Amino acid sequence: MSNEQTNWWEWQRFFAARSRKQLPSLETADHYCSIPDSVARSLAVFQLGESGGGTVVRQARQSSIRNVDAHYAKALELFVKEEHHHAEILAICVRNLGGALIQKNWTARLFVIARRLMGLRLKVLVLLAAEVVGICYYHLLATRLPNTRLQQLLAQIVEDERAHLHFHCCFLRSQMISGWRRALFVLVWRSTMAAAAIVVLIDHRRALRDLDLKFSAVWRRWRTYRRLAERLVLEKDRSAVPDSLIEGWSRVATS
Ligand SMILES: [Fe+2]
Ligand SMILES: [Fe+2]
Repeated sequence: MSNEQTNWWEWQRFFAARSRKQLPSLETADHYCSIPDSVARSLAVFQLGESGGGTVVRQARQSSIRNVDAHYAKALELFVKEEHHHAEILAICVRNLGGALIQKNWTARLFVIARRLMGLRLKVLVLLAAEVVGICYYHLLATRLPNTRLQQLLAQIVEDERAHLHFHCCFLRSQMISGWRRALFVLVWRSTMAAAAIVVLIDHRRALRDLDLKFSAVWRRWRTYRRLAERLVLEKDRSAVPDSLIEGWSRVATS
């Protein structure tokens, strides 16, 4: 068994150990009356985005590309399950904020169309872009909310998304077997991140404005995580990536 295959087994165990989480309960709606309506609408869009992902698992099961095996497909299935758990948490949050869940949204649709057009590697790259967007957006939202259970739940989702970021980086890193692939990754990754950041900034502008979050602050945070992901995928020497950025997930990614 190669190191990469061992990694996928470790990732499978990692996600399996987290797969029996209970759904939370929140405080009464009174605790949330000071939060602008635009936040509920914004979270409803993310709730929709967290609900998909079945096709990537099917594609991984059938894939014959390098370093993809049954353990990777299973880890990916458990990852999608964790995203669905996020969708359930966000649904509770949206309802408690007095908002309504949505079935359609143009930014969520763009992510789905982009993923459907692509092979497994590009699908994972788009998933990685969604993780960067989610990590930054949920974190910034949490910093502007009153000290409630909702704030804690968003912080918890951010931690999960950081693990997802490392999982996807681990996969993409295993695919960087030549100079042209590395160059192509940089080109597609930066373009995808720029496009994702722009559409999310446009779609969530009201919530950002109501919470006094400047576009420049959101952009800077995305850029930091975009660069971190890029380094995790491309850096030949992992020790060149600071521990403060990698945190505990590196133990899984490199075991
Ligand atoms: Fe998520
Ligand atoms: Fe995620």
